[in-house]
Amino acid sequence: MDTMNAIFTRRSIRKYTGQPVSDELIQTLLRAAMAAPSAGNQQPWHFVVVADHDIMDKVTEFHPHAGMLTEAPLAILACGDPTVEKFEGRWPLDCSAATENLLLAAHAKGLGAVWLAIYPVPERIAGMRDLLGIPEQVVPFCLVSIGYPAEEKKPEDRFNPERVHNNKW
Ligand SMILES: Cc1cc2nc3c(=O)[nH]c(=O)nc-3n(C[C@H](O)[C@H](O)[C@H](O)COP(=O)(O)O)c2cc1C
Repeated sequence: MDTMNAIFTRRSIRKYTGQPVSDELIQTLLRAAMAAPSAGNQQPWHFVVVADHDIMDKVTEFHPHAGMLTEAPLAILACGDPTVEKFEGRWPLDCSAATENLLLAAHAKGLGAVWLAIYPVPERIAGMRDLLGIPEQVVPFCLVSIGYPAEEKKPEDRFNPERVHNNKW
């Protein structure tokens, strides 16, 4: 799938078949995430790959919009480490870029995925930290639920000319 096609046809997928995702494919997703741009090229991210359903089911106890995890074969938690930043406050932007890369790579490889917000909601950050034993200086940023799609969604054209300004607002 070429880049523009991946961008324009990606949708959030919340229903999955039971087909497992290979380790090789998981590594490709992580490689895509880590190919993202980051401020000062500091790459202030860590990723936790979660396939244990005891853990994934527990996320639904503190995250009200994560029900799809009970059916997903896999989730990847993107985390930020503010202590390695060169430019203060950039880590959520860097983690966002990495997450979008991961979503697009998943889609290009025939998987379905959805971004589940963790940061900046305190109880979700604390919940993920406790559940996965995340070190104190590292911040759980978002959880991406991943699997082979069991739903089909049409692309949406969201181009809005009212949001475009030329030279001046
Ligand atoms: C920062 C962010 C947080 C999100 N959090 C959730 C979430 O907690 N649960 C969920 O089901 N979807 C979540 N989504 C997915 C959005 O609902 C989805 O991207 C949006 O409705 C647009 O649909 P699309 O991804 O299919 O284009 C999140 C997306 C972003 C970018």
